[in-house]
Amino acid sequence: MIINNKQYRSIWMSEDKLSIEIIDQRYLPFEFIIETINSSTEMAEAIRDMRLRGAPLIGVAAAYGMYLAALEASRKPDFNQHLKFSEILLLNTRPTAVNLKWAIDRVRKEIDKARTIEEIISNVYKIAEKIADEDVENCKSIGKYGVEIIEDISLKKKGDTVNILTHCNAGALACVDYGTALSPITEAFKKGIKLRVWVDETRPRLQGKLTSWELEQLSIPNTVISDNAGGYLMQKGMVDLVIVGADRIAQSGDVANKIGTYLKALAAKDSGIPFYVAAPTSTIDFNLQTGNDIIIEKRDENEVLYAEGLLNGKIESVRLFSSKAQAENYGFDVTPHKLISGYITEKGIYASIASII
Ligand code: MRU
Repeated sequence: MIINNKQYRSIWMSEDKLSIEIIDQRYLPFEFIIETINSSTEMAEAIRDMRLRGAPLIGVAAAYGMYLAALEASRKPDFNQHLKFSEILLLNTRPTAVNLKWAIDRVRKEIDKARTIEEIISNVYKIAEKIADEDVENCKSIGKYGVEIIEDISLKKKGDTVNILTHCNAGALACVDYGTALSPITEAFKKGIKLRVWVDETRPRLQGKLTSWELEQLSIPNTVISDNAGGYLMQKGMVDLVIVGADRIAQSGDVANKIGTYLKALAAKDSGIPFYVAAPTSTIDFNLQTGNDIIIEKRDENEVLYAEGLLNGKIESVRLFSSKAQAENYGFDVTPHKLISGYITEKGIYASIASII
């Protein structure tokens, strides 16, 4: 992604290969802050606090976290014990996105292949970089395939603006670059298709502010809407297509994604609007039959009870509810496959997950 005329990934290895650099997403869009992660424990904290977030990105971050763990382990009395400890720590940071486990499993295979500590460090380094590079290529391919859907709609509308609704942030910041749901949109914009993106604000963490900021960097026309507005816009013919990302996809095709996705899918179905899920195949959980078994993350109630914003040039937090109010904060919901028109992956567009397997 280009920020202030400079090319960035959302995560990368430092030049001396001793630490990892991330864009700290907690301060965007107000402040662009790069943070250095020096240890596997810090990486686990960064994932848990959502300094970095998004299913593909947390997978990559966990792989880099394992690389830091391997470096640390080489200075500890029990190398294997430290690696195992870090693996469990990273695995338990966030439960819903399967990419985390997928990436750690790939790292574990490379660890188990090696015979010396040097070999383990070198293998983990290579696999972490590979997972990051692959994510970039996968997201590019998602864009290349997904753009066909937007082109078709544009043709049917004889070149009129294609209105696309998206939920949460499934852009470059949620991945290493390009994004999942935003990749076809970016591709369509580059091809000169007239577009407007409706950006759901996505309470409580307001990932919509990341999406609208990313779209601004790309000069793609976008409008933020409250989470409750999508259904109305769909009924009024103001939405031609919905594209969202995914955190875990079961074999049945049921999709866990940011809380609120299910309601958009219901509304899209009722209005006959195509509803696509864009995700790399690393988001498919081949061990899971249906969405019923997906663990839904519950987060701190204060994310619901408070809101953050810019006040007099400073990021401030304000309480929104009475001091006695209690909240429940479910991070994700599951959209049943019957509400999904198709899956845009790096391998192509599929009507069902069974056809990918
Ligand atoms: O809680 P988050 O922000 O890490 O949520 C994950 C997501 O970014 C979304 O659910 C997204 O749509 C899928 S990941 C590209």
